[in-house]
Amino acid sequence: MIATDVDWATRAHRLANALKERGDLRTEAWHGAVASVPRHVLVPKAYQQDSQTGQWRGIDMASPEGLDLVYSLETLVTALDERNGSQYAVSSSTKPDLMVRMLELLDVDDTHRVLEIGTGTGYNAALLTQRLGDDQVFSVDVDAGLVNGARERLAEFGCHPTIAAADGEQGLPDHAPYDRIIATCSVPAVPWLWAEQLVEDGRVLVDLKLAIGAGNLVYLNRKPGRLEGRFTERWAAFMAMRHERDVVTENRPRCTDRAERTTNTPAQPWWSHRVVWFLAQFALPRGVTYGMRLDPDTRQPTAATLSSPDGSWAEVTLDEVDGAHRVAEAGITALWAAVEQAYEQWRELGEPDWPRLGLTVTPGGQQVWLDEPDGEHLWTLPTV
Ligand SMILES: C[S@@+](CC[C@H](N)C(=O)[O-])C[C@H]1O[C@@H](n2cnc3c(N)ncnc32)[C@H](O)[C@@H]1O
Repeated sequence: MIATDVDWATRAHRLANALKERGDLRTEAWHGAVASVPRHVLVPKAYQQDSQTGQWRGIDMASPEGLDLVYSLETLVTALDERNGSQYAVSSSTKPDLMVRMLELLDVDDTHRVLEIGTGTGYNAALLTQRLGDDQVFSVDVDAGLVNGARERLAEFGCHPTIAAADGEQGLPDHAPYDRIIATCSVPAVPWLWAEQLVEDGRVLVDLKLAIGAGNLVYLNRKPGRLEGRFTERWAAFMAMRHERDVVTENRPRCTDRAERTTNTPAQPWWSHRVVWFLAQFALPRGVTYGMRLDPDTRQPTAATLSSPDGSWAEVTLDEVDGAHRVAEAGITALWAAVEQAYEQWRELGEPDWPRLGLTVTPGGQQVWLDEPDGEHLWTLPTV
């Protein structure tokens, strides 16, 4: 039973009103759903990371601090795993403002059957179920422990959507077809199996990310032989889909053939020019990560860093001299040159923002396009 000593209904209602005032919630039906879901039941505990020590701290969501957090616009990390002695997040309850913007965009009607990929806490499944009913909501997560926890907690307040433990890359064929598929984990390419499980003119809303930070939500329409649609105006990021087949590969040692030069390209396009960072992926090898070099004394960031699994790296100073940043780099892969070329190309194309870019998915391949699917500028997604 829902803890009656917690005045969650007032808090949930306040959250729904705040989302409406911000313009994230646009319809009464979704307002009602947010106001009726006890998020603290689905998120009994969350974890916050100390930015200095990297240590995670658990917070009980029924505590006064927890209740403030759980009915706020925060993303809450809800499950951790451990690798090489350090903990990292494997599940979270997505920030409610992003969640409801996605649900509004999904454009469901009362008859729709919806599949969610990435059950996590079950909060989004609960919103969908309050809106559509138990029989029209399906959700899948790769982590059986999360699935069982979500199913039990949803039942505490009378929500019984179909939840399955499976790799969402396969969709959920047993209950297809769906009118809508919404994914709350990112994919490097859209699985064609999802298209096969959609009705004609059905929709998919998913975060396409070719690398960390490199991509955005894309809203696709099921058409004969393909899925097609544009990236959304607002940028968003979800944790990446994981699979049993995933292997952790060790990076090769850092290359030492250091060379220096200057660049006019922004030092951190992954923050300041996200489309550029996305386009750069079509020339970069897989597994390139970005980071920051800190001054050892002040602990303030001084340079942006790129590292490739093959040992190649680049460092670009954050400050500029005569309008240029200094680049130090080494290795066989010209990492920064790929970013520079993407920046030049982006400028030549008129500095497009996300909605000018779209994606076509067919059984044989996937292409990003500028302005029109059969336009002049196409980028082919690497096969996964
Ligand atoms: C951001 S969380 C989802 C949040 C969730 N919708 C909620 O409301 O709490 C991302 C989820 O995707 C799940 N996930 C990762 N890889 C997956 C896969 N291959 N299939 C299905 N779910 C996956 C993770 O276990 C995690 O729970």
